[in-house]
Amino acid sequence: MNRKRTWGLGLLGCGSFGAFCLETYSRLADLRPAAVADAFPAAADRLAERFGVPAVYAAADLFARDDVDIVHIATPPQSHYPLALAALRAGKHVLCEKPLATRLDHAEALVAEASRQGRICPVNFVLRYNPVTDAVKAIVDSGLIGRPIHGSFENFAQDESLGPDHWFWDRALSGGIFIEHAVHFFDLYAHWFGPGRVVAAHAETRTGSAAQDRVMCITRHDEGVTVHQYHGFDQPERLDRQNHHLLFERGDLYADGWIPRSLALHAIVDDDQAAGLRRLCPGADVEVLERYAGRDRRCRGRWQEYAVTQRIRLAWDGGPDKDTLYRRGVADLMRDQVARLADPGHLRRVTEADGRDAVAAAVTAAAMAADGSAGSGQ
Ligand SMILES: NC(=O)c1ccc[n+]([C@@H]2O[C@H](COP(=O)([O-])OP(=O)(O)OC[C@H]3O[C@@H](n4cnc5c(N)ncnc54)[C@H](O)[C@@H]3O)[C@@H](O)[C@H]2O)c1
Repeated sequence: MNRKRTWGLGLLGCGSFGAFCLETYSRLADLRPAAVADAFPAAADRLAERFGVPAVYAAADLFARDDVDIVHIATPPQSHYPLALAALRAGKHVLCEKPLATRLDHAEALVAEASRQGRICPVNFVLRYNPVTDAVKAIVDSGLIGRPIHGSFENFAQDESLGPDHWFWDRALSGGIFIEHAVHFFDLYAHWFGPGRVVAAHAETRTGSAAQDRVMCITRHDEGVTVHQYHGFDQPERLDRQNHHLLFERGDLYADGWIPRSLALHAIVDDDQAAGLRRLCPGADVEVLERYAGRDRRCRGRWQEYAVTQRIRLAWDGGPDKDTLYRRGVADLMRDQVARLADPGHLRRVTEADGRDAVAAAVTAAAMAADGSAGSGQ
């Protein structure tokens, strides 16, 4: 076991998300910000001054530092593979921003290199460290409202901070929306419903530009559960909104926000199931909309018969606000990964394989969508 009490963190990529994470990491007991690096010197200097650490400009100089144990790579997606590979080869642990890579062979090579070097290289899948996504997972696994049938995620995202020259629109740099952004949700739905396979995908380009601003796809999970994802980046900031809607055999649930804050559930259940749901969502508001007695307790669905005693509506808040939950997710993911460094037996929620699997789904969806556009002559 490594006896080190604190781990030196080197941030590579001092843009908006790198700064957000470093602020959170600077408050963690097991981490010590050691240095920051950015190809754009002013960006590195700004964070160096703010956090009282040295700035370097070349990635190799960050990887050469003895006081850096973990490199957080927060640069645009296309650079993740070469930078993470070089960091691992320099003997560093890596926390990579999504996506792990923009190509599947690159993602696989990173997983192999991390294993060869005995280092970690997970992706910052913050949604796996969120009370609402945890509650959804517990509800799915409990079977209290039956088996899941279908999931739908609608991401009506803002583009106010994404001007025409932003790297986000350049698919050579970002990989496109499936790879740059949807990886979070390929990962989350695989976590909820088991491994998924992309069965359909489509993308749309903004009229009068080359920017692909809307993508959608369907994945098929264990036992034929289907998931539809829509991601569109075309809304004003103040209308930015997201919603998960999951259908089960005996009800459905909604989780709002891309960093979900609250959950609403509507279901028909028996008394034990109602009590079980209250346990999974402690402190939830539960309203009994109808009670059933005698023959009214019987109902059928999917050719099965159930006995239920009530129709309920449950509303549960998972936390204070999006920003706090986001920061908690960033902190908890890092704590989980650092625990693995201190104890090789520690089982992490997010592993290298999760990053690779999300890239596999994303590149499949992107290729399928490209085929579709070619076929329709666009
Ligand atoms: N996990 C999450 O929830 C989450 C949220 C937002 C962004 N991200 C990811 O974080 C990454 C960065 O996003 P951002 O919004 O902060 O971008 P950004 O453009 O604000 O910052 C990127 C920074 O990287 C620097 N950079 C670019 N190429 C470099 C290179 N080769 N070497 C060193 N520095 C380089 C740029 O100068 C810039 O300062 C992306 O991969 C994005 O997908 C993740």
